[in-house]
Amino acid sequence: MEDSEACTWAWIMHLEIGGKAMVRKVTTLGLAITGASGAPYALRLLECLIEAQVKVYLMISKPGQIVIGMETDLKLGGRPSQIQQTLTERLAAAPGQISVLDRDQWTAPVASGSGVPDAMVICPCTTGTLSCVASGTSRTLLERAADVVLKERRRLIAVVREMPLSEIHLEHMLRLARMGAIIMPACPGFYHRPKGVTDLVDFVVARILDHLGIDQRLMPRWGLGSLAETDSFL
Ligand SMILES: Cc1cc2nc3c(=O)[nH]c(=O)nc-3n(C[C@H](O)[C@H](O)[C@H](O)COP(=O)(O)O)c2cc1C
Repeated sequence: MEDSEACTWAWIMHLEIGGKAMVRKVTTLGLAITGASGAPYALRLLECLIEAQVKVYLMISKPGQIVIGMETDLKLGGRPSQIQQTLTERLAAAPGQISVLDRDQWTAPVASGSGVPDAMVICPCTTGTLSCVASGTSRTLLERAADVVLKERRRLIAVVREMPLSEIHLEHMLRLARMGAIIMPACPGFYHRPKGVTDLVDFVVARILDHLGIDQRLMPRWGLGSLAETDSFL
């Protein structure tokens, strides 16, 4: 396969519905940021999604906002409209490309199967939100959006962050994985010889983008580029 063909296919997601393979390009995405450690993953992912011209419905839990304030220099402001303006300016997003949604904004597209985005990522994902999604509680828009993505058989990625993991956490992850969700713990590798935190963040974000079928240049693929030089160690 030519490189250009590989690139085109990288943009396309495959879904198995009723035994039939369907392809879906990710143009709209729900991004939920919850109160687990790992806000830099979320912000880097958002930056990449904006660059890839994806329309993002952003949902940030209250603890998520607190953790962003503790782990980054970003001052978001409390109201969704303020957060939307701050992020749109900071990331030079197109007008309307980022919609920041309130926790009980039930009229938002992501609240219904008829407005479901192509995929949803919860990054970082707390064990609390993991539990709510695995149980289908749907008490907040964020939980409802994940429930909708699952019922509509769209791709749900949960970037869970906790250690150690209890039996409860593991059971919830297994339940979601069996429903087709992708559990992607925030566990960066070290074989790309990270020079700093940015490289570790990019490792995780690159894998998320790969699973969304969004072309990424953050990390060379295994066996290609500079990683291929490690052949002599194998
Ligand atoms: C600085 C900070 C770091 C936290 N890190 C984690 C974490 O890594 N994983 C986790 O499950 N909860 C973590 N928590 C606890 C959650 O924020 C808390 O359980 C919260 O109720 C989760 O709510 P949410 O899922 O609606 O965001 C952290 C809290 C703070 C303040």
